[in-house]
Amino acid sequence: MTLTSTLPAPDTAAQQHSEQLLNHIKQKITDAGGKLTFAEYMNLCLYAPGLGYYSAGSYKLGKHGDFTTAPEISSLFSRTLACHIKDVFQQLEQKNILEFGAGSGKMAADILQKLEADHCLPEHYYIIEASADLRQRQAVAIKKHIPHLFDRVEWLEIIPENFSGVILANEVCDAMPVHCLHFNNGKVNELHIENKGSMLQWCEGELSQPLLADLAAEIQSVIGNIDYTTEVNLAAEAWIASLADNLKCGAIFVIDYGYDQKNYYHPQRDKGTLMCYYQHQGHDNPLILQGLQDMTAHVNFTSLAQSAIDNGLEVVGFQSQADFLLAGGILELSSSDSDTDEWLMLQQANEIKQLTLPSEMGENFKVLTLGRNLEQVLPRVLLADRRYSL
Ligand SMILES: C[S@@+](CC[C@H](N)C(=O)[O-])C[C@H]1O[C@@H](n2cnc3c(N)ncnc32)[C@H](O)[C@@H]1O
Repeated sequence: MTLTSTLPAPDTAAQQHSEQLLNHIKQKITDAGGKLTFAEYMNLCLYAPGLGYYSAGSYKLGKHGDFTTAPEISSLFSRTLACHIKDVFQQLEQKNILEFGAGSGKMAADILQKLEADHCLPEHYYIIEASADLRQRQAVAIKKHIPHLFDRVEWLEIIPENFSGVILANEVCDAMPVHCLHFNNGKVNELHIENKGSMLQWCEGELSQPLLADLAAEIQSVIGNIDYTTEVNLAAEAWIASLADNLKCGAIFVIDYGYDQKNYYHPQRDKGTLMCYYQHQGHDNPLILQGLQDMTAHVNFTSLAQSAIDNGLEVVGFQSQADFLLAGGILELSSSDSDTDEWLMLQQANEIKQLTLPSEMGENFKVLTLGRNLEQVLPRVLLADRRYSL
């Protein structure tokens, strides 16, 4: 954890941008009668049109941004994912891909290139992206890297009905707005945000939705009577339900950092999992740098799996990212690439370490595989399968 006092100062233009968003948020708080839920606040910070972190024009991903994701670290990640996609495609007549939150567009380009090389292209590669700015960047990047495949890529607002194919979401659920709950002595309050002079501050209030009361009772039974703050991602559960409503046949790969329920509500995680990232420094204060920093919360995979089951999907695998990539053949892909190129071999060895070592992304990141109407098992997602822990 980094102290916020050691964060680099934003330049004047960035400060002005952030102040504009802060004023917009303060007005929303006033309009709402004095407070917003943290989920409403996080939604504005990340997605307020033209101002939010993902909706405005700064570059977020990669070494010049605020954080790096697996597809940005190495094309091996996306190409290995393509091998898992091929396993699903073998069972489908209509082969499509739908990627949520496609970031820079690199994963889409790398997957399509690999599937083209393997003569297994999808009919369509759909993208649903919350940020208009990122949609534009994705189109530019995909056109540049795979111009001949560009006409297969299409940006949609909502998931097509009766979708047949593979749905992908890498680091998307962690970017969905969360509600924050505070448990104390058997009582639960929701954490809200209110104005305080020119700044903002936390305040406690009643639960904003009846659904939160049911979930709070469940959480209370896991944590017991201790002082505990945690997050609830209602948006991710609703998102799974919307996928279930529209997936006719195929699989969903949800890749993110997070835990099964027992570890999510571990006594040591009594301050929750909310984190902010600004220029590659992590810290825990979401009330600063509005629109300039990323905000995320870890994913509770047990609750995602439960939503999937409640909505008629099958949970077909739950693996660490390391096991998912090893089962997908990342080592074989790398050795066939770098057969004769020693420099490439070293570079890829380093990338594989970042993606698979437990101290890097290998263990914190998990892959939840969901399915509908698949006639055969997906053998690769059964390697070191941990569904028992959900
Ligand atoms: C942390 S970034 C990850 C980007 C990319 N998947 C990667 O791995 O590099 C989160 C992405 O999800 C998008 N996003 C968040 N919620 C979304 C939603 N409900 N539907 C579509 N995109 C969403 C954001 O705009 C952003 O592109």
